[in-house]
Amino acid sequence: MRIDILTLFPEMCEVVLNESIVGRARKNQLVELYCHNIRDYAFNKHRRVDDAPYGGGKGMVMQAEPIFQCYQAVCNQSNLSQKPYVIYLSPQGNVLTQQKSIAYSQMDHIILLCGHYEGVDERVIEAIVDEEVSIGDYVLTGGELPALVLTDSIVRLCDGVLSDAECFEQESHYHGLLEYPQYTRPEVWQERTVPEILLSGHHANIEKWKLQQSLERTKQKRIDLFEEYIAKNGEK
Ligand code: ADE
Repeated sequence: MRIDILTLFPEMCEVVLNESIVGRARKNQLVELYCHNIRDYAFNKHRRVDDAPYGGGKGMVMQAEPIFQCYQAVCNQSNLSQKPYVIYLSPQGNVLTQQKSIAYSQMDHIILLCGHYEGVDERVIEAIVDEEVSIGDYVLTGGELPALVLTDSIVRLCDGVLSDAECFEQESHYHGLLEYPQYTRPEVWQERTVPEILLSGHHANIEKWKLQQSLERTKQKRIDLFEEYIAKNGEK
């Protein structure tokens, strides 16, 4: 899996991509992650990347040409067998879900385009973008944080990144349910005890308890997900 992030703030992205599980995956060459500065492809006197919107209005719009040049440089760099899948991070996009991240994690090469200011010239979106993706119904100052969220959710699903498939097969959203509650030592903390079943060593009963807890939690916290799960799997 290769992901290229096209951004005006590559340093901001690098800091995040070099930490924790994603940083380790990168170091161990389980994934290839690159950040490119769109400004490096602004071949005008002041390396300008934005201009006022036609028709008036507030703010600035990112110009098509530096983005297109940056995109082409990435395409020329890599030995492409097929066109990379290009995602533009935008509050107007399809909202990210775990199912989408799973699908992206099975792709070979993704390019993430981060907008800033009032957005990006529509013509470059038409020319290169396959899909617009949003990370939720709120507006951020740029696409960098959404691109990093998306990258994190994809990289952790790639082969070898997490130690055991169980790590994500049991977690919230994987099977459409929220995860059961977790406990660790000590057995009693501030007079609160760990559920007895988890200390019993009876694996079958523990599994039953976990599913029951997942169902109850999902019903309580996310009735929309619960109803979807019941429609698909029937009452348990
Ligand atoms: N850019 C600004 N806000 C965004 C959001 N919510 N999702 C994706 N990209 C964005």
